[in-house]
Amino acid sequence: MIVITGATGHVGHALAAQLAAEGHAVRGLTRDPARATLPAGVEAAPADFSGPAGLKAAFAGADALFLNLAGVGDATEEVVTAAVRAGVTRVVMLSSGAVTDDEADDRGVIATWHVAAERTVRAAGVEWTMLRPNMFAVNTLAYAGQIRAGDEVRAPHGDAAQAPVHERDIAAVAVRALLDDGHHGRAHRLTGPEAVTTAEQVLTIGAALGRPLRFTELSGREAAALYAHMPPQVVEEMLDALGASVGTPPEITTTVRDVTGVPARTFAQWAADHVADFR
Ligand SMILES: NC(=O)c1ccc[n+]([C@@H]2O[C@H](COP(=O)([O-])OP(=O)(O)OC[C@H]3O[C@@H](n4cnc5c(N)ncnc54)[C@H](OP(=O)(O)O)[C@@H]3O)[C@@H](O)[C@H]2O)c1
Repeated sequence: MIVITGATGHVGHALAAQLAAEGHAVRGLTRDPARATLPAGVEAAPADFSGPAGLKAAFAGADALFLNLAGVGDATEEVVTAAVRAGVTRVVMLSSGAVTDDEADDRGVIATWHVAAERTVRAAGVEWTMLRPNMFAVNTLAYAGQIRAGDEVRAPHGDAAQAPVHERDIAAVAVRALLDDGHHGRAHRLTGPEAVTTAEQVLTIGAALGRPLRFTELSGREAAALYAHMPPQVVEEMLDALGASVGTPPEITTTVRDVTGVPARTFAQWAADHVADFR
Protein backbone atom coordinates (compact mmCIF):
# COMPACT_ATOMS: atom_id res chain seq x y z
CA MET A 1 0.00 0.00 0.00
CA ILE A 2 1.34 3.40 -1.03
CA VAL A 3 0.12 6.37 1.02
CA ILE A 4 0.09 9.85 -0.55
CA THR A 5 -0.11 13.07 1.45
CA GLY A 6 -1.53 16.03 -0.46
CA ALA A 7 -3.38 13.47 -2.58
CA THR A 8 -6.01 15.97 -3.75
CA GLY A 9 -3.32 18.46 -4.81
CA HIS A 10 -1.72 18.93 -8.21
CA VAL A 11 1.13 16.44 -7.86
CA GLY A 12 -0.62 14.04 -5.46
CA HIS A 13 -3.69 13.65 -7.66
CA ALA A 14 -1.58 13.02 -10.77
CA LEU A 15 0.50 10.47 -8.85
CA ALA A 16 -2.54 8.69 -7.42
CA ALA A 17 -3.99 8.43 -10.94
CA GLN A 18 -0.80 7.00 -12.44
CA LEU A 19 -0.29 4.45 -9.64
CA ALA A 20 -3.93 3.35 -9.64
CA ALA A 21 -3.89 3.02 -13.45
CA GLU A 22 -1.00 0.56 -13.05
CA GLY A 23 -3.05 -1.42 -10.52
CA HIS A 24 -1.20 -0.46 -7.33
CA ALA A 25 -2.98 -0.11 -3.97
CA VAL A 26 -3.05 3.59 -3.13
CA ARG A 27 -4.43 5.51 -0.16
CA GLY A 28 -4.81 9.27 -0.52
CA LEU A 29 -4.84 11.35 2.64
CA THR A 30 -7.13 14.37 2.75
CA ARG A 31 -8.78 16.49 5.42
CA ASP A 32 -12.18 15.65 3.99
CA PRO A 33 -12.58 12.25 2.29
CA ALA A 34 -16.28 12.95 1.60
CA ARG A 35 -15.42 16.00 -0.50
CA ALA A 36 -12.23 14.68 -2.08
CA THR A 37 -12.39 13.69 -5.75
CA LEU A 38 -9.63 11.12 -5.99
CA PRO A 39 -8.99 9.00 -9.09
CA ALA A 40 -10.92 5.74 -9.48
CA GLY A 41 -9.47 2.93 -7.41
CA VAL A 42 -7.79 5.21 -4.85
CA GLU A 43 -8.88 4.84 -1.24
CA ALA A 44 -9.47 8.17 0.56
CA ALA A 45 -8.51 8.37 4.24
CA PRO A 46 -8.85 11.28 6.67
CA ALA A 47 -5.81 13.12 7.99
CA ASP A 48 -5.44 16.71 9.12
CA PHE A 49 -1.85 17.55 9.97
CA SER A 50 -2.81 20.78 11.71
CA GLY A 51 -4.30 18.82 14.64
CA PRO A 52 -4.54 15.30 16.06
CA ALA A 53 -4.44 13.62 12.72
CA GLY A 54 -5.41 9.97 13.24
CA LEU A 55 -2.12 8.98 11.69
CA LYS A 56 -2.16 5.38 12.89
CA ALA A 57 -5.18 4.54 10.77
CA ALA A 58 -3.87 6.64 7.88
CA PHE A 59 -0.76 4.48 7.57
CA ALA A 60 -2.14 1.06 8.54
CA GLY A 61 -0.80 -1.56 6.15
CA ALA A 62 1.39 0.93 4.25
CA ASP A 63 4.87 0.14 2.98
CA ALA A 64 5.62 3.31 1.02
CA LEU A 65 4.90 7.00 1.41
CA PHE A 66 4.82 9.92 -0.99
CA LEU A 67 5.34 12.91 1.26
CA ASN A 68 4.09 16.26 -0.02
CA LEU A 69 4.80 18.86 2.64
CA ALA A 70 1.80 21.00 1.64
CA GLY A 71 -0.36 21.01 4.73
CA VAL A 72 2.17 19.04 6.75
CA GLY A 73 3.71 22.25 8.07
CA ASP A 74 5.91 21.50 11.06
CA ALA A 75 4.46 18.01 11.56
CA THR A 76 6.96 16.23 9.29
CA GLU A 77 8.58 14.32 12.14
CA GLU A 78 5.22 13.18 13.51
CA VAL A 79 4.04 12.07 10.05
CA VAL A 80 7.25 10.24 9.17
CA THR A 81 7.42 8.55 12.60
CA ALA A 82 3.83 7.33 12.25
CA ALA A 83 4.57 6.03 8.76
CA VAL A 84 7.68 4.13 9.88
CA ARG A 85 5.87 2.65 12.91
CA ALA A 86 3.19 1.36 10.59
CA GLY A 87 5.79 -0.41 8.42
CA VAL A 88 6.72 2.12 5.73
CA THR A 89 10.22 1.39 4.43
CA ARG A 90 10.38 3.74 1.42
CA VAL A 91 9.66 7.48 1.35
CA VAL A 92 9.66 9.70 -1.73
CA MET A 93 9.51 13.32 -0.67
CA LEU A 94 8.39 16.28 -2.75
CA SER A 95 11.11 18.74 -1.84
CA SER A 96 12.15 21.84 -3.80
CA GLY A 97 14.78 22.96 -6.27
CA ALA A 98 15.57 25.65 -3.70
CA VAL A 99 17.52 22.92 -1.89
CA THR A 100 21.01 22.87 -3.40
CA ASP A 101 23.22 21.11 -0.81
CA ASP A 102 25.38 24.20 -0.34
CA GLU A 103 25.40 27.28 1.87
CA ALA A 104 22.27 28.66 0.13
CA ASP A 105 20.30 25.97 1.99
CA ASP A 106 20.58 28.06 5.16
CA ARG A 107 18.92 31.09 3.55
CA GLY A 108 15.25 31.83 3.08
CA VAL A 109 12.11 30.10 4.25
CA ILE A 110 11.58 27.95 1.15
CA ALA A 111 15.00 26.28 1.30
CA THR A 112 15.22 25.96 5.09
CA TRP A 113 11.75 24.44 5.43
CA HIS A 114 12.42 21.80 2.77
CA VAL A 115 15.94 21.12 4.08
CA ALA A 116 14.59 20.47 7.59
CA ALA A 117 12.02 18.02 6.23
CA GLU A 118 14.63 16.29 4.06
CA ARG A 119 16.80 15.79 7.17
CA THR A 120 13.89 14.25 9.03
CA VAL A 121 13.25 11.79 6.23
CA ARG A 122 16.94 10.89 5.83
CA ALA A 123 17.20 10.21 9.57
CA ALA A 124 14.15 7.94 9.60
CA GLY A 125 15.99 4.76 8.64
CA VAL A 126 14.03 4.26 5.42
CA GLU A 127 14.93 4.16 1.76
CA TRP A 128 14.43 7.75 0.61
CA THR A 129 14.37 9.75 -2.58
CA MET A 130 14.08 13.53 -2.81
CA LEU A 131 12.30 15.17 -5.72
CA ARG A 132 13.51 18.73 -6.15
CA PRO A 133 11.42 20.50 -8.77
CA ASN A 134 11.85 24.13 -9.73
CA MET A 135 8.84 26.20 -10.80
CA PHE A 136 5.61 24.23 -11.22
CA ALA A 137 3.74 25.09 -14.44
CA VAL A 138 0.59 25.16 -12.28
CA ASN A 139 1.85 28.37 -10.67
CA THR A 140 0.54 30.15 -13.76
CA LEU A 141 -3.00 29.27 -12.62
CA ALA A 142 -2.53 32.49 -10.59
CA TYR A 143 -3.43 34.28 -13.86
CA ALA A 144 -6.71 32.39 -14.34
CA GLY A 145 -8.88 35.13 -12.82
CA GLN A 146 -7.39 37.80 -15.11
CA ILE A 147 -7.67 35.56 -18.18
CA ARG A 148 -11.32 34.79 -17.47
CA ALA A 149 -12.00 38.51 -17.03
CA GLY A 150 -10.21 39.79 -20.13
CA ASP A 151 -7.26 39.58 -22.49
CA GLU A 152 -4.63 41.26 -20.34
CA VAL A 153 -2.40 39.53 -17.78
CA ARG A 154 -0.58 41.82 -15.38
CA ALA A 155 2.32 39.99 -13.75
CA PRO A 156 5.88 40.71 -12.61
CA HIS A 157 9.21 40.15 -14.39
CA GLY A 158 8.02 39.38 -17.93
CA ASP A 159 11.58 38.69 -19.05
CA ALA A 160 12.39 36.20 -16.31
CA ALA A 161 12.90 32.79 -17.91
CA GLN A 162 12.07 29.57 -16.11
CA ALA A 163 11.61 25.96 -17.16
CA PRO A 164 8.16 25.20 -15.72
CA VAL A 165 7.58 21.53 -14.95
CA HIS A 166 4.29 19.69 -15.53
CA GLU A 167 2.83 18.09 -12.39
CA ARG A 168 2.31 14.85 -14.32
CA ASP A 169 6.04 14.68 -14.97
CA ILE A 170 6.82 15.14 -11.28
CA ALA A 171 4.30 12.38 -10.60
CA ALA A 172 5.82 10.12 -13.27
CA VAL A 173 9.25 10.40 -11.63
CA ALA A 174 7.66 9.73 -8.24
CA VAL A 175 6.06 6.55 -9.62
CA ARG A 176 9.45 5.18 -10.63
CA ALA A 177 11.08 6.18 -7.33
CA LEU A 178 8.26 4.53 -5.36
CA LEU A 179 8.23 1.29 -7.36
CA ASP A 180 11.75 0.71 -8.66
CA ASP A 181 15.06 0.08 -6.95
CA GLY A 182 18.02 2.37 -7.60
CA HIS A 183 16.55 5.66 -6.37
CA HIS A 184 17.48 5.33 -2.70
CA GLY A 185 19.68 8.18 -1.48
CA ARG A 186 19.20 10.26 -4.62
CA ALA A 187 17.92 13.79 -5.10
CA HIS A 188 16.25 14.25 -8.49
CA ARG A 189 16.26 17.83 -9.77
CA LEU A 190 13.19 18.30 -11.97
CA THR A 191 12.42 20.97 -14.57
CA GLY A 192 10.53 21.31 -17.79
CA PRO A 193 12.42 20.82 -21.07
CA GLU A 194 12.85 24.45 -22.15
CA ALA A 195 13.21 28.04 -21.01
CA VAL A 196 9.99 30.07 -21.19
CA THR A 197 9.78 33.67 -20.00
CA THR A 198 6.87 34.88 -17.89
CA ALA A 199 5.52 36.87 -20.86
CA GLU A 200 5.86 33.83 -23.15
CA GLN A 201 3.99 31.69 -20.62
CA VAL A 202 1.04 34.09 -20.88
CA LEU A 203 1.12 34.09 -24.69
CA THR A 204 1.32 30.27 -24.69
CA ILE A 205 -1.78 30.01 -22.51
CA GLY A 206 -3.52 32.37 -24.95
CA ALA A 207 -2.51 30.16 -27.89
CA ALA A 208 -3.95 27.11 -26.12
CA LEU A 209 -7.17 29.00 -25.48
CA GLY A 210 -7.31 30.20 -29.07
CA ARG A 211 -7.33 33.92 -28.19
CA PRO A 212 -4.47 36.41 -28.00
CA LEU A 213 -3.47 37.56 -24.52
CA ARG A 214 -1.44 40.67 -23.67
CA PHE A 215 1.26 40.76 -21.02
CA THR A 216 1.71 43.89 -18.90
CA GLU A 217 4.61 44.21 -16.50
CA LEU A 218 3.70 44.73 -12.82
CA SER A 219 6.01 46.01 -10.12
CA GLY A 220 7.01 43.49 -7.44
CA ARG A 221 4.87 45.24 -4.84
CA GLU A 222 1.76 45.21 -7.06
CA ALA A 223 2.46 41.58 -7.91
CA ALA A 224 2.22 40.35 -4.33
CA ALA A 225 -1.58 40.61 -4.57
CA LEU A 226 -1.53 37.85 -7.23
CA TYR A 227 -0.21 35.44 -4.64
CA ALA A 228 -2.37 36.51 -1.70
CA HIS A 229 -3.15 32.81 -0.99
CA MET A 230 0.52 32.16 -0.12
CA PRO A 231 2.51 33.19 3.00
CA PRO A 232 3.86 36.75 2.44
CA GLN A 233 7.45 35.75 3.25
CA VAL A 234 7.34 32.99 0.63
CA VAL A 235 5.86 35.39 -1.94
CA GLU A 236 8.55 38.00 -1.23
CA GLU A 237 11.28 35.40 -1.61
CA MET A 238 9.76 33.98 -4.78
CA LEU A 239 9.44 37.44 -6.40
CA ASP A 240 12.98 38.41 -5.38
CA ALA A 241 14.33 35.20 -6.93
CA LEU A 242 12.31 35.78 -10.09
CA GLY A 243 13.62 39.35 -10.39
CA ALA A 244 17.19 38.22 -9.78
CA SER A 245 16.85 35.56 -12.49
CA VAL A 246 16.17 38.05 -15.31
CA GLY A 247 18.96 37.66 -17.86
CA THR A 248 20.08 34.30 -16.47
CA PRO A 249 19.11 31.09 -18.27
CA PRO A 250 17.16 28.74 -15.98
CA GLU A 251 18.38 25.35 -14.88
CA ILE A 252 17.15 22.69 -17.31
CA THR A 253 17.60 19.05 -16.36
CA THR A 254 16.97 15.83 -18.29
CA THR A 255 15.87 13.98 -15.15
CA VAL A 256 12.27 13.39 -16.27
CA ARG A 257 13.47 11.68 -19.46
CA ASP A 258 16.34 9.89 -17.71
CA VAL A 259 14.06 8.40 -15.04
CA THR A 260 10.87 7.75 -17.00
CA GLY A 261 12.19 7.26 -20.54
CA VAL A 262 9.79 9.96 -21.78
CA PRO A 263 10.83 13.60 -22.35
CA ALA A 264 9.42 16.22 -20.01
CA ARG A 265 6.25 17.90 -21.28
CA THR A 266 6.59 21.41 -22.72
CA PHE A 267 4.77 24.40 -21.26
CA ALA A 268 2.59 24.40 -24.40
CA GLN A 269 1.52 20.83 -23.55
CA TRP A 270 0.77 21.90 -19.99
CA ALA A 271 -1.35 24.82 -21.23
CA ALA A 272 -3.25 22.51 -23.61
CA ASP A 273 -3.95 20.13 -20.71
CA HIS A 274 -5.29 23.01 -18.59
CA VAL A 275 -7.44 25.10 -20.94
CA ALA A 276 -10.52 24.30 -18.84
CA ASP A 277 -8.87 25.93 -15.82
CA PHE A 278 -8.64 29.26 -17.68
CA ARG A 279 -12.20 29.26 -19.15
N1 LIG B 1 4.70 25.54 -6.66
C1 LIG B 1 5.99 25.38 -6.94
O1 LIG B 1 6.55 26.02 -7.85
C2 LIG B 1 6.81 24.40 -6.14
C3 LIG B 1 8.16 24.23 -6.46
C4 LIG B 1 8.91 23.31 -5.74
C5 LIG B 1 8.32 22.56 -4.73
N2 LIG B 1 7.00 22.73 -4.43
C6 LIG B 1 6.41 21.89 -3.35
O2 LIG B 1 5.14 21.43 -3.77
C7 LIG B 1 4.20 21.61 -2.73
C8 LIG B 1 2.81 21.86 -3.32
O3 LIG B 1 2.42 20.72 -4.06
P1 LIG B 1 1.03 20.72 -4.85
O4 LIG B 1 1.00 21.92 -5.78
O5 LIG B 1 0.83 19.37 -5.44
O6 LIG B 1 0.02 20.96 -3.65
P2 LIG B 1 -1.43 21.60 -3.71
O7 LIG B 1 -2.04 21.34 -5.05
O8 LIG B 1 -1.31 23.01 -3.22
O9 LIG B 1 -2.20 20.72 -2.65
C9 LIG B 1 -2.13 20.95 -1.28
C10 LIG B 1 -2.52 19.65 -0.60
O10 LIG B 1 -2.28 19.78 0.79
C11 LIG B 1 -3.34 19.16 1.49
N3 LIG B 1 -3.48 19.81 2.79
C12 LIG B 1 -3.55 21.15 3.02
N4 LIG B 1 -3.65 21.37 4.36
C13 LIG B 1 -3.66 20.14 4.97
C14 LIG B 1 -3.72 19.71 6.31
N5 LIG B 1 -3.83 20.58 7.34
N6 LIG B 1 -3.68 18.37 6.58
C15 LIG B 1 -3.60 17.47 5.55
N7 LIG B 1 -3.52 17.83 4.23
C16 LIG B 1 -3.55 19.15 3.95
C17 LIG B 1 -4.58 19.37 0.60
O11 LIG B 1 -5.48 18.32 0.84
P3 LIG B 1 -7.04 18.49 1.29
O12 LIG B 1 -7.46 19.90 0.92
O13 LIG B 1 -7.74 17.44 0.49
O14 LIG B 1 -7.03 18.23 2.74
C18 LIG B 1 -3.98 19.27 -0.81
O15 LIG B 1 -4.02 17.94 -1.26
C19 LIG B 1 4.73 22.83 -1.95
O16 LIG B 1 4.27 22.80 -0.61
C20 LIG B 1 6.23 22.65 -2.04
O17 LIG B 1 6.66 21.83 -0.97
C21 LIG B 1 6.23 23.63 -5.11
